[in-house]
Amino acid sequence: MGALVDTKTLRNAIPAEPSRLLPVELSVIVPTFNERANLPALVAGLTSALADIRWELIVVDDDSPDGTAEEVRRWHGVNPRVRILRRIGRRGLASACIEGALASSAPYLAVMDADGQHDPKLLPAMLQVLLDDEADLVVGSRHVENGGVGAWSGWRAQISQVATGLAHTSGLRQLSDPMSGFFAIRREAFDARAPNLAGRGFKILLELIVANPAFPPGRIRELGYKFGLRTQGESKFSLSVAWDCLATLVEGGSGGLISRRFLTFGCVGAFGFGVHLAILGTAYRLLNLSFGLAQIAALSGAILSNYVLNNILTYGDRSNRGWRWISGLVSFGMICGSSAWANFEVSQIAFRHGAPWAAAAFLGAATGALWNYIATARITWRA
Ligand code: GDD
Ligand code: MN
Repeated sequence: MGALVDTKTLRNAIPAEPSRLLPVELSVIVPTFNERANLPALVAGLTSALADIRWELIVVDDDSPDGTAEEVRRWHGVNPRVRILRRIGRRGLASACIEGALASSAPYLAVMDADGQHDPKLLPAMLQVLLDDEADLVVGSRHVENGGVGAWSGWRAQISQVATGLAHTSGLRQLSDPMSGFFAIRREAFDARAPNLAGRGFKILLELIVANPAFPPGRIRELGYKFGLRTQGESKFSLSVAWDCLATLVEGGSGGLISRRFLTFGCVGAFGFGVHLAILGTAYRLLNLSFGLAQIAALSGAILSNYVLNNILTYGDRSNRGWRWISGLVSFGMICGSSAWANFEVSQIAFRHGAPWAAAAFLGAATGALWNYIATARITWRA
């Protein structure tokens, strides 16, 4: 793959660094996946916005096939402020930000996208708030004065609005834009929360805010900025990212009682019941299959659909692929069978001990679901 900008042009564009050996004041952490084409504008934007600041750019790249990491190393050759943290066999925006922040030694950290949607010209103002000790966290917001979502695609803006509404109802009222991916934070404030960050989703800011310790009142500030349009490449936002965000909110709102995985697993199971009924109805009523055959088809369909959805949504971070997809399906099917047996046994025992029929059925179903969840976590999707 040819280089996008030849080295000579780079040398002319960015002056040599006389202050190379002075400590860094601000680390700008930028997670990337296939953002090679955005690097020139990113570095140029930071260079002009942060002219009076000793900054560095830490690009945390998840081994992008487009060669983002390699391109960052080329930039380092002409501008040592630019460096790379390459991760292999991993994916995730939030965990990339956390690891980038942990790799920095600067007293102030900022997180932003690589694609030009977050305006680097806001960074000096964000840093100033931290330097003046007016806050521990400064968030770039699209929903305060001077802010805006610009020409962001209608449906994305709508999803963002719903998520923001949910965050607000689940108690996150300090922020007008809790879904923002653009913020600056004091190093100590980050370090205090780092051990309590799971780093699983897309929303690192959301995680920081719900993590312990909570930010003292008044220690979060918002500054408005206009959300730009992605200049190159594609967004990595997807349905599973949106679901993950929703599940994070429920996990936070329930004080960690309902874990994201358990919630997702439960919803997939409920959906599977719908699949079961749909197949059963079609096979038995429309195709006139015997009830037994129709039930077998419905059970198989529900198991397959549950397996596929759990593999994407519940265990997207360690989904089974290739041969493991097949062996995973086999173990999933066997565990489903054994959990039906556990369901049956428990409901029988409860009924014999005098539980009303509906309560006995509920106890059986709850045991079966829990059995299923725990066993598949350990066998089908073992870490
Ligand atoms: N290392 C790494 N690994 N980086 C990733 C991954 C990943 O798995 N997925 C996405 N990124 C990087 C992208 O390359 C980009 O630099 C940044 O994270 C944001 O991803 P986008 O794909 O551009 O997301 P978006 O524009 O839809 O959403 C962003 O902006 C929203 C508004 O501020 C995110 O920052 C959202 O969190 C934010 O709400
Ligand atoms: Mn983006």
